[in-house]
Amino acid sequence: MKNKYIDLIEQTFEFPQEEFTIEDNELNFHDVPLMDIIKQYGTPLKITYLPKISQQINKAKRLFNVAMAKVDYRGTYNYSYCTKSSHFSFILEEALKNDIHLETSSAYDIPLINSLYDEGLIDKNTYIICNGFKRPQYVENIAALVNSGFHNTVPILDNKEEIDLFNGVLEKRCKIGLRIAAEEEPKFDFYTSRLGIRYNEILELYKQKIKPNKKYEMKMLHFFINTGIKDTAYYWNELNRCVNLYCELKKICPELDSLNIGGGFPIQTSLAMEFDYEYMAEEIVAQIKNICNSQGIEEPHLFTEFGSFTVGESGAVLYSIVNQKQQNDREFWYMIDSSFITTLPDTWGIHQRYIMLAINNWDKEYQRVFLGGLTCDSEDYYSGEAHTNAIFLPKLVTGEPQYIGFFHTGAYQESLGGFGGIQHCLIPAPKHIIIDRDKGDTEYYTRLFAKEQSYRSMMRILGY
Ligand SMILES: Cc1ncc(COP(=O)(O)O)c(C=O)c1O
Repeated sequence: MKNKYIDLIEQTFEFPQEEFTIEDNELNFHDVPLMDIIKQYGTPLKITYLPKISQQINKAKRLFNVAMAKVDYRGTYNYSYCTKSSHFSFILEEALKNDIHLETSSAYDIPLINSLYDEGLIDKNTYIICNGFKRPQYVENIAALVNSGFHNTVPILDNKEEIDLFNGVLEKRCKIGLRIAAEEEPKFDFYTSRLGIRYNEILELYKQKIKPNKKYEMKMLHFFINTGIKDTAYYWNELNRCVNLYCELKKICPELDSLNIGGGFPIQTSLAMEFDYEYMAEEIVAQIKNICNSQGIEEPHLFTEFGSFTVGESGAVLYSIVNQKQQNDREFWYMIDSSFITTLPDTWGIHQRYIMLAINNWDKEYQRVFLGGLTCDSEDYYSGEAHTNAIFLPKLVTGEPQYIGFFHTGAYQESLGGFGGIQHCLIPAPKHIIIDRDKGDTEYYTRLFAKEQSYRSMMRILGY
């Protein structure tokens, strides 16, 4: 009878996969034996597998450049990384090995840019695309960048008033972008995004406030579809509206030459998921070219700001099962040694699913379980995967530890969870390690980025 955990996985998915393989009933992630990592560092444990970041960036560059070559697209493709998806220095250091640009979201992002410049990781030609609502400190910091010679800093105006704030503080000519407020997917509570400027106000804003002011060079139109880049009528419709607006604006604004389509390239959240990246890149590029050419407009340089796509698949969290509870005839709870709310807040906040796999005991029988976190919050649990509303793990054997891993968790979880701050029931932030490979790509090595949060650090924050 095929009732082992390995049978279940092999029957449900194409398995093994490039990233996930099995050796002696234990899981390897990118050929790294996770049991070795657990033996060395324990659990709960956050992992960043650095090489994946560069692989993702180069994959996107390849996809868009090939798509452009196929239709003889005359603009360039510019990969930007949106820092908000993971601000950590080791993430930016890896990402910046690949000749990319950066997108910022708030005032405190700018010291981060300065630090990268001091380290020699970026130069003054790097595009710094400044999104987000502009509070006075953010305006001041952006202006300081422009004034110090970062000539490719592009504040993207989020509302009509922001342009006035820059007037008094800019000493040099400044590139400007405008964010279009996208229409939301029909399932949303509202029709139009609060982020950005209404479609029908963009041309007027340009004519009244940007064109007459010699300080500004109107370079970029920006739009971002909150629900991501997907092959849906909704996405294509929004892209079309945006490119049409680009053409309208270009007719009265010759210096406009760039279109920023934001973030939203998806990542794998289930072993069953396949996304046709090639088709999407080709379709986006071809549609932009067709619309522009049909209106006699030269196609724009393309910018993307992929966050999840850059770092999501590099991250993982490993937990131990510390207890099993049977609360009725059918429901088995496996208690993890941390909390979902604090370490993977998206599982709680937006019911995000991730790839979840047992690390060991693949030769044991499996059963349906619920995973419980350590906080007292009844919502601190995980109960379903992207492809099925249930989870299965090996049956526990007395005396044998069981470890599990959540994969592709590298984007947003630390900033949403308030890494190193105060969290629910004072559950500490887990230890975080980095896995990298030597130059020849043969051996992997690990290094500790952060120890498990100490009670002293919490006491200090709490004022004790
Ligand atoms: C303006 C902007 N660009 C890019 C991103 C990155 O999106 P993703 O992580 O889905 O690629 C976001 C995410 O909120 C965003 O608001």
